[in-house]
Amino acid sequence: MSPQALAQVLCRLPKFSSENLLVGLDTCDDAAVYRINDKQAVILTLDFFTPVVDDPYIFGQIAAANALSDVYAMGGTPVTALNIACFPGCLPEPVLGEILRGGADKVIEAGALVVGGHTVEDNEPKYGLSVMGMVHPKRIITNAGSCPGDLLVLTKPLGTGILNTAIKGDLLSEDAYRKNVEIMSYLNKDACQAMLKTGVSGCTDITGFGFLGHAAEMAEASGMTLEIFTESLPVIEESIELAKMGIIPGGAYRNKDFLRNKVFIQGNITQEMEDILYDPQTSGGLLIALPEEKAGLLSEELKRVNRTPYAVVGRVKKRTDHIIEVK
Ligand code: CO
Ligand code: CO
Ligand code: CO
Repeated sequence: MSPQALAQVLCRLPKFSSENLLVGLDTCDDAAVYRINDKQAVILTLDFFTPVVDDPYIFGQIAAANALSDVYAMGGTPVTALNIACFPGCLPEPVLGEILRGGADKVIEAGALVVGGHTVEDNEPKYGLSVMGMVHPKRIITNAGSCPGDLLVLTKPLGTGILNTAIKGDLLSEDAYRKNVEIMSYLNKDACQAMLKTGVSGCTDITGFGFLGHAAEMAEASGMTLEIFTESLPVIEESIELAKMGIIPGGAYRNKDFLRNKVFIQGNITQEMEDILYDPQTSGGLLIALPEEKAGLLSEELKRVNRTPYAVVGRVKKRTDHIIEVK
């Protein structure tokens, strides 16, 4: 759904609060966090979507990596997962089996357990997980923690939405397809561990609202302005050429429309770079805010464990007239 439409629906619902609800709906964070006791809090999240690739096993892996990501974005450890699946009666059941097997393999890689799930018949297949994770209540990382002077680090390259659109039109090279699948199915577990080892101010993951959409949520939750350095953004090379050809998912235009009063573009950036900034990501990377003096340490940790390109992509500053400033 578009972020506007969703916000309109959500604001009419009753507000829930409790002294144990440490992270709820208010800050548009990645997951809810509920305190069990002084040492333990649970992280709760749910994500599912329609296939982005034809291979059911790979689709299962990507959908699970995407759902698990919200736990990593909060600095947590996934513990259990429930499958949520929609499946057409006309497709052979082994296809559903492959989707679930892909998901299960990712949950195993995350060190968590698949403990159940629910499947309904539907015209279009959909799959994802509801994940429960754990975190120490004092060590929760939210999108609200970024401070003036913090640097911003992005741990996966952008462009997966554009590449997924190209897949649907059969316009993607074998090589680019493989790269895209590798990026989307790669767990944010390694990036999360690097972030926990370093100690950071704030984090969110980049998914459907695009890089700028999630950056804007971080800026708003923190009461800050985020300055983005486009020349250092990690981008999947092929997405630039495809964006030039106009292969852009509809979601990118919805994201751009939603952010039109929040984003200020300074100087000249190319149209294709602008499209990439709004491109909805599937299972994107973590966007981490941390004090400048810790950036070297995070870089070293990421270099050791992270298997996708990452970079310093911006800086946090006191709120200006704009929520996001793109350079
Ligand atoms: Co998220
Ligand atoms: Co999510
Ligand atoms: Co049921």
